Amino acid sequence: MAIREILTVPDPRLREVCKPAEQVDGEVRALLDDMLETMYDAPGIGLAAIQIGVAKRCIVMDIERDPEEEGDSGNPLFMVNPEIIWTSEEINEFEEGCLSVPEYYETVERPESCTVRYLDYNGKPQELECEGMLATCVQHEIDHLNGALFIDHISRLKRDRIIRKFTKELKLRRKGAA
Ligand code: NI
Repeated sequence: MAIREILTVPDPRLREVCKPAEQVDGEVRALLDDMLETMYDAPGIGLAAIQIGVAKRCIVMDIERDPEEEGDSGNPLFMVNPEIIWTSEEINEFEEGCLSVPEYYETVERPESCTVRYLDYNGKPQELECEGMLATCVQHEIDHLNGALFIDHISRLKRDRIIRKFTKELKLRRKGAA
């Protein structure tokens, strides 16, 4: 396992539509392991493969682990080729953040519950009913596989402002490195 670098906006790779994994083999499991370690290290509660530069439809999540508690093994969820097959009409609001949009949080509305179909770590087909924070998290991560970010769900004004801020910081960093 290895901690990988997390891409941040405005990296164009975050806008790629990711390809399905043909099968859950050793290579995919090694990717999932790296993703989990990277996510725990950040720390975050969800990560999509494209956030470490791999355009494959793989996500990891853990909404139970307490990063403050040493040795908390949490409850990791691995999903390969996840698909939302049902969403509730009820809508929920959560303050969302993203490791690819560091230190920015905004309220986003999404369906309150959803059902996801996916292949698990062993390649076995699964369906999971999600609600509350897990429903928000899984929808946020699946958005990443389609090149979408949570800031696409907020007003254009706020989105443009935050992207400008990150673009400016990137230019300054590049200048500093030159
Ligand atoms: Ni994210």
